[in-house]
Amino acid sequence: MKKTSAPEQTPLCIFGTGDLGFSLGRRLLQSGYRVVYGSRRPHSCGPLPPGTQVCAQSANLVFICIHRENYGFLETLLPELRGKVLVDVSNNLKKNQYPEANAEYLQRLVPGAHVVKGFNTLSAWALQNGPSDANRQVYLCGNSAEAKQTVAETATKLGFTVLDRGSLSAARELEDFPLQLFPEWRMPLRLAVGLTAFFFFYLLIRDVIYAYVEQQKDISFRIMVSLANKVFPIVSLIMLSLCYLPGVIAALLQLYRGTKYKRFPDWLDRWMLCRKQLGLVALAFASLHVLYTLLIPIRYYVRYKVAASTISQIKENRTSEFDTAIAWRTDSYYSVGILGFGLYLLLGITSLPSVSNALSWREFSFIQSKLGYVTLLFCTLHTYLYGWNKFLRPSTYKWYTPPGYMLSLIVPTVVLVVKLLLLLPCVDRTLTRIRQGWERTDPE
Ligand code: HEM
Repeated sequence: MKKTSAPEQTPLCIFGTGDLGFSLGRRLLQSGYRVVYGSRRPHSCGPLPPGTQVCAQSANLVFICIHRENYGFLETLLPELRGKVLVDVSNNLKKNQYPEANAEYLQRLVPGAHVVKGFNTLSAWALQNGPSDANRQVYLCGNSAEAKQTVAETATKLGFTVLDRGSLSAARELEDFPLQLFPEWRMPLRLAVGLTAFFFFYLLIRDVIYAYVEQQKDISFRIMVSLANKVFPIVSLIMLSLCYLPGVIAALLQLYRGTKYKRFPDWLDRWMLCRKQLGLVALAFASLHVLYTLLIPIRYYVRYKVAASTISQIKENRTSEFDTAIAWRTDSYYSVGILGFGLYLLLGITSLPSVSNALSWREFSFIQSKLGYVTLLFCTLHTYLYGWNKFLRPSTYKWYTPPGYMLSLIVPTVVLVVKLLLLLPCVDRTLTRIRQGWERTDPE
């Protein structure tokens, strides 16, 4: 392995004085490195930009912070760049903009140098402000292990965590990273939009259109609060249960296969990887439900209904009996809802990198797994208590359709029942053994 010299004795060269080159230089200087700039200014005299030759000659590590279109001039520096480590930090404006990755093109132009692709996933802003939880990682790839080691040591001294992605053929993948728009959020957001649209139209037909057609009543104003306060919690509950469904499917697969060493299908892997995003979107929907619920007492419609019923009782000189069962039921579902929401918030907060980094793996998995199932249990119970015995009334099934909350209970109930079965001592023991590496050998 190459010996590292003290940062202050190592001159580093940066080609390019754009935002990234400038920020990188500042960060290197702050970390004790000596930095030499090479700039390619249009008004420079002669074919070589001023300073570049000095720069290339004096440094072993050269950061190429210029656009790919300008790489051509590096061909004039071939002798100076021989044996040097060139770090390609460039990105493109769109995918497949060029037939080969920028770093591979650079390697072709300067065959005597060792090209390493890296730092391209960081913004100039992240470089200036120093690594924070969200942008601590620097991806590297390159054909020379020694060159990668040199770059990795520099990145580590700047406070970044290095992730080696292999040879230079991985450069295209690294160059595509910054072009991806919230890739791990795509599936959860699409699901949220799909479920919201489905339940909105389903409830619109059941609640508003049904009343208009069957009772000639216009209650379209209900779209704004009543309908929203049904759609949001329903979508939230379904999405929360979808965070835990892949876990129980994975457990069932492991039990069925009798080993943990067989890979899960791709779709299950991808599903597991976006559970955090699924949960955070679900939490946002639950928060909307809570906000809408706070609004109920001040709604004109609700205040009007309460006043009208009081006046009619006075007029008819009658009082309604206090129903302890209703009091119990409503208080229970409010209370269970609040507990569920409290745990939901805890799950959301602990999934944030700055909080999860402060937890041990055991603490993190305790909260996300055990408390996660308790959250799902509370939210499901809240909905069952809300529904109570409404399922017995024929009027509930408008146009033979079940109410939205009943549909929202299907997936959570399945997840909770299967989880309960997995917790049975005999099943749990087998699953634990499989997860500890034991394999079932089927008789021939
Ligand atoms: C329904 C309160 C948290 C899921 C309701 C209703 C209220 C309520 C008052 C009846 C709404 C109506 O009559 O239209 C609360 C309170 C919560 C809470 C005070 C916590 C502070 C949650 C959470 C979930 C949830 C965390 C799970 C995601 C539901 C569902 C319904 C419902 C699915 C049935 C919606 C429908 O079809 O009418 N909740 N809730 N709630 N809640 Fe909550």
